[in-house]
Amino acid sequence: MTHTPLVGIIMGSASDWPIMEHAARTLRDFGIPWEAQVASAHRSLDKLSGYASTARERGLKCIIAGAGAAAHLAGVAAAITDIPILGVPIDSTALKGMDALLAMVQMPGGIPVATFAIGKAGAVNAALFAVAMLANDDPQMAEKLAAFRKKQSAKVKATELPPLDPVD
Ligand code: RP5
Repeated sequence: MTHTPLVGIIMGSASDWPIMEHAARTLRDFGIPWEAQVASAHRSLDKLSGYASTARERGLKCIIAGAGAAAHLAGVAAAITDIPILGVPIDSTALKGMDALLAMVQMPGGIPVATFAIGKAGAVNAALFAVAMLANDDPQMAEKLAAFRKKQSAKVKATELPPLDPVD
């Protein structure tokens, strides 16, 4: 089994990690090798540039980029590399992640950022999207994804709501 990372996770600040770790946990659950680091577009552009420009040759199949505020991280990464960039807007400002969401989803035509929900759901779904992309060329991964969906569905179907409180 290869341990070379297939998915890169980057974020603008260590303060984004409590959300972005959910992407890492999801990838880990599927046995997908990943790597994570802080690589800010405005505070460490040289690091981001080096990371993204070597991504394909290092074997990464996609990069999940989480950032808050003006959130140009995903867009800049997408400008540097043509492997898929999956953007996760982080709720880290007074605008509750709407600023980051719009910055990612409103990329001008030509340089796409696949943008997910703000926060934890987005981090989890970006990772599941990466799983789905990898599953296209990996039948075992496709089976794992199908099993995950089946288990999730069974859990919802088995859910029983609590009874009402007794009337006084
Ligand atoms: C963005 O600014 C980061 O992605 C983070 O969400 C936000 C705040 O960063 P810190 O001030 O916590 O480092 O660049």
